[in-house]
Amino acid sequence: MPRLHVNIDHVATLRQARLSQEPDPVIAAGICELAGANGITVHLREDRRHIQERDVRILKQTVKTLLNLEMAWTKEMLDFAMDLKPNQICVVPEKREELTTEGGLDVGQYEQSLSEEMGDLQKAGIEVSLFIDPLPDAIECAARAGADFVELHTGSYANARGKNRLNELKRLETAANYAHELGLRVNAGHGLDFDNVLPIAQLPWVEELNIGYAIICRSIYSGLDQAVREMQDRILAAAPPDQE
Ligand code: PXP
Repeated sequence: MPRLHVNIDHVATLRQARLSQEPDPVIAAGICELAGANGITVHLREDRRHIQERDVRILKQTVKTLLNLEMAWTKEMLDFAMDLKPNQICVVPEKREELTTEGGLDVGQYEQSLSEEMGDLQKAGIEVSLFIDPLPDAIECAARAGADFVELHTGSYANARGKNRLNELKRLETAANYAHELGLRVNAGHGLDFDNVLPIAQLPWVEELNIGYAIICRSIYSGLDQAVREMQDRILAAAPPDQE
């Protein structure tokens, strides 16, 4: 059964709407951990639209589970990661005009520099994950570049309906099996919510789910503690009876 990493970016989105100090993602992270989250994920975007450097630096001191930093593959972010040393980074494509991360990383474009920098990151104790579409080429590039994990982009699955959704699920399953075969560890995320998470939690080899928007939205109604617990319950339903 996969572990739940809560992405708290949108706590900071609300704060930045008024350029104020509340709500504070650092406090939100603590509540998520107390509610049973297994990790905290933040995306420090180039345009700093939500999470700020201050947040990540404090989270590095306060998060007790695991801190996963999503970042673009730029010199600025690499230097930041090497300085901060989060437990894990997830390399994502980033476009200024997008509302959220749209597609997976074009690993081929970065394969050489990923291969060159990967060793230093890993020697510094940082696990490296690449956020990719569930495609064989991307998985092969990630394996050649020496990544620890791939995070499979579940956005197309989340947006699809009916038979298309089943096809997307099949694509994710094939990708998870292939990544495992090539020695990669597997995470998944994007667009997951209370209704669509179960089949993803049941996929083979998936270790961590990164879920943000749905949990933060639900927290407006029910509180963050309850929202995290509810998502954990949905994921728990994926466990075979003897593992519950
Ligand atoms: N995984 C990655 C790599 C992401 O970029 C995001 C969005 O920041 C998520 C997971 C979480 O997506 P959502 O907010 O839709 O749950």
